[in-house]
Amino acid sequence: MNLEDGTRTLILVCQNVDCKSKGAGELMRRLEEAFKNRPEVEVRSYMCFGTCQQAPNVVLYPQRHWYSEVKLSDLSDIIEGIQQGKPVERICNKVDSGARELIYALLDAGIY
Ligand code: FES
Repeated sequence: MNLEDGTRTLILVCQNVDCKSKGAGELMRRLEEAFKNRPEVEVRSYMCFGTCQQAPNVVLYPQRHWYSEVKLSDLSDIIEGIQQGKPVERICNKVDSGARELIYALLDAGIY
């Protein structure tokens, strides 16, 4: 799945206390800037993924790429990965699979 096939990507950036205290505000600002002219990509704040110990968390949907402990230095790889439809393996899906499945079930149900 990549941007070339017309798939819309949602980038969900947690903005709750733990993620925000570890730089999620700046991560979101930079992602918004990177994709401001790409209508097929939407950057949205998220209330809390429940994996606060591994903050900051950024989730790509529908790709189901869950990035945790994201640093500003990871952003260029994340942006490139979105464009190529590939996850950044070193920071992807490190959180508990039960937490991930719960959030994906909510997203599949249209609850953001
Ligand atoms: S504060 Fe971000 S996952 Fe909970």
